[in-house]
Amino acid sequence: MIRLATLQDIESLLQLEQACFSYDLLSRDNFRYLLTKAHANILVAVKNDGISGCAILLFRKNSLKARLYSFAVDARYRRQGVASRLLLAAEQCAMTHQCLTLRLETRLDNIPMQQLIAQQGYQKFATIIDYYEDHATALRYEKKLIPHIQID
Ligand SMILES: CC(C)(COP(=O)(O)OP(=O)(O)OC[C@H]1O[C@@H](n2cnc3c(N)ncnc32)[C@H](O)[C@@H]1OP(=O)(O)O)[C@@H](O)C(=O)NCCC(=O)NCCS
Repeated sequence: MIRLATLQDIESLLQLEQACFSYDLLSRDNFRYLLTKAHANILVAVKNDGISGCAILLFRKNSLKARLYSFAVDARYRRQGVASRLLLAAEQCAMTHQCLTLRLETRLDNIPMQQLIAQQGYQKFATIIDYYEDHATALRYEKKLIPHIQID
């Protein structure tokens, strides 16, 4: 199941963040801000009553572009399609915010993420040297979102 995160999820979100990333970690205050004040949505994939993955989407006023700010799946649940489903849910969420494009950055050395997004139709449009805290290079990708129109 994929649902919107709430303040009750902060502990699990912090654990997932710490388990999945070594740099540029989001803090408890960052999550609290994202959940209460930011123009953002956090989607969580839920398995066995725990959080198996998370997608953080940022929106900007009067912008048709949404940004996938963070994206991770718990190592215990990888290669089971959790990220693929979460990314599709993130795209749907962006469309419900009237966005027509979803953008994201990933590290040059993150092959699993690059494989995933290539499979889901994302196009690389920029390379940013020295983007991350540890000076790693980022690749920027985007996907044009196509809203489904029901005609009948
Ligand atoms: C990248 C990540 C989100 C993928 O999550 P996942 O749930 O394992 O991905 P899925 O099972 O949905 O896999 C979908 C596709 O992604 C690609 N993929 C996923 N893991 C891969 C790996 N280890 N090596 C190569 N390709 C991989 C494959 O194309 C896969 O399709 P397939 O299973 O049909 O081959 C996960 O590895 C992760 O959280 N990594 C650490 C955090 C991170 O890098 N986040 C992204 C920041 S931009």
